[in-house]
Amino acid sequence: MEAQLKILRFDPETDTEPRYKTYTVKAEPSERILDCLNRIKWEQDGTLAYRMSCGHGVCGSDAMKINGRCGLACQKLVKDFAGEEIVLEPLPTFTVLKDLIVDMETFFDRVKLMRPYLINAELPPPKERLQDQDERSKVDAVIRCILCACCTAACPVTAENQQYLGPASFVWAFRYIFDSRDDQQLERLTQINTPDGVWGCRNLFECTRVCPKEIPVTKSINTIKREIQKTLKENPQ
Ligand code: SF4
Ligand code: SF4
Ligand code: FES
Repeated sequence: MEAQLKILRFDPETDTEPRYKTYTVKAEPSERILDCLNRIKWEQDGTLAYRMSCGHGVCGSDAMKINGRCGLACQKLVKDFAGEEIVLEPLPTFTVLKDLIVDMETFFDRVKLMRPYLINAELPPPKERLQDQDERSKVDAVIRCILCACCTAACPVTAENQQYLGPASFVWAFRYIFDSRDDQQLERLTQINTPDGVWGCRNLFECTRVCPKEIPVTKSINTIKREIQKTLKENPQ
């Protein structure tokens, strides 16, 4: 079959405005949108810019807007868009560096602010800090995050408020707040107990709808909110 891809192109070195360019490529129905992009780049237009690495939903680098919804180009099949033009645009709310490549720096900085690593002042036991199945199951879902940024780009609050920490940051905060081996729960909860933190979330569920790893993002944010109400009441500052 033939697939028609309409791609929003922008090169800040030569363009004043973004513009759409349409390409037609031959593709099997079971091929991914990423395969089409590669074919365009390798056979038709080497100037097309996009990120990719693993090709299998692991690295999170090929997130973009596909027919209006944020997702990974390597996870969307050509047959899912049969009979439709496939419109590809860079992730919304992010600054475009070139074509489908956006600047991820602020996004990663905000995740880093969450101190996404285990902190525990107690000396570790001789082998390792143990965790039982029940404890581990609390973070099983969020541990799947691949930092693709689809959730943050799709969030209507991010679009309105550039200071909002964004759903991906909360997923990483959750990862350590509810890890039984971490001893910074109070500090971590206090850090995001702000209007630009979890209280900025309006339960619009866009993050959950677009997450390619099916992480219950909104539910996780609401769990943090409840934990803040409970823990900070018990530990007034
Ligand atoms: S649930 Fe919250 S974080 Fe997720 S998209 Fe909606 S407002 Fe944004
Ligand atoms: S929570 Fe989901 S959508 Fe958000 S960065 Fe992680 S994997 Fe991507
Ligand atoms: S290329 Fe790695 S997630 Fe799509």
